[in-house]
Amino acid sequence: MAKRVGVLTSGGDCPGLNAAIRAIGKAGEKSRGGMKLIGFQNGFRGLVENRTLELGDGLLSGILTDGGTILGTSRDKPHRMMVDGKVRDMTATIVKNYRRHRLDALICIGGGGTQKNALRLKQAGLRVLTLPKTIDNDIAFTDASFGFSTAAGIATEAIDRLHSTATSHNRIIVVEIMGHRAGWLALEAGCAGGADVILIPEIPYDLASVAGTVRGRTKRGKHFSIVAVAEGAQSRADAEQIRRLLRRKESATKKQARQAISQQLQEFHAAHVNHTVLLTQQLERLTGLESRLTILGHLQRGGTPSAADRVLALWLGTAGVRAIEEGLDGVMLAVQEGRIVPVPLENVAGQKKLVPPDHPLITAARRVGTGFGD
Ligand code: F6P
Repeated sequence: MAKRVGVLTSGGDCPGLNAAIRAIGKAGEKSRGGMKLIGFQNGFRGLVENRTLELGDGLLSGILTDGGTILGTSRDKPHRMMVDGKVRDMTATIVKNYRRHRLDALICIGGGGTQKNALRLKQAGLRVLTLPKTIDNDIAFTDASFGFSTAAGIATEAIDRLHSTATSHNRIIVVEIMGHRAGWLALEAGCAGGADVILIPEIPYDLASVAGTVRGRTKRGKHFSIVAVAEGAQSRADAEQIRRLLRRKESATKKQARQAISQQLQEFHAAHVNHTVLLTQQLERLTGLESRLTILGHLQRGGTPSAADRVLALWLGTAGVRAIEEGLDGVMLAVQEGRIVPVPLENVAGQKKLVPPDHPLITAARRVGTGFGD
């Protein structure tokens, strides 16, 4: 009998999601015994509200090159979902709907948060597999996730374009690049685009050092600079403040005290949203060069996937189907040293892959004079 498999996309969208859905759908049709694929709309919410799309050939054709996801997505979590104006645990409803559709397995395509949510569903008794996608490249235990290559390409092209306007006006252009709390995207695009300074969360920066790099360039007759900043980058002072709060939270014995510190941390991160505005103003003041800020934002997530992301999505999507044929359960399909391997969700959930400060790309960039603000 054909297997009945649910599929959903969850978390921020990214290029390559449709390519993965297509790969699962087409490989599923040809799989041993066949596969009936039921898509749930808007992430885990679709599983709660029972909103489905039958992923037959009609929907799967012609989507390989499309950005976004035909299933829609959301950041909803099964155990903390806003329903009728209240935050509720909807896990039991999800389990009920899984059974109602007589599913043999559920494939969740998502990033770090999705791995945690998938693990919860596994613990609630569902058979769950995940595929890693994110433009941030921060999912632990996998060397690659689709979405990253496209976003890096878009950010690189942006830096290329910013170069000519920065040169013409003798300006500093600060370009803010996504990546959440990791610096992979800024590092990749910064290196590819030849940014003069790259600031990433993993290397807290000293403003004087950034200004020093820019002034050094001015002395050498280069009156413009491109500063690529990860959205999560932080000054040394900010990093120290966060460390202090985390230490206090760890040693707090009372739940109430821990909650209060979590609240402070949240407020700190919320205020941090404007850090590139401040950085741009400070650099102008310290260097005397006119400075402008470009925030690339969601541009980096939209549109056609790169060839590399399409291929990765094809590879992971078809591996997902094979994993179901082979009876795997509770794993993320990860890319490790050129192979796809199953990694238990227990290992992945709650972990983050950050840029090691001694990453070879950082070493290489330093050798050509790129500053990291340290
Ligand atoms: O995780 C992908 C990502 O684009 C991050 O780089 C960014 O911090 C976040 O999502 C933005 O989320 P949203 O689209 O919900 O504003």
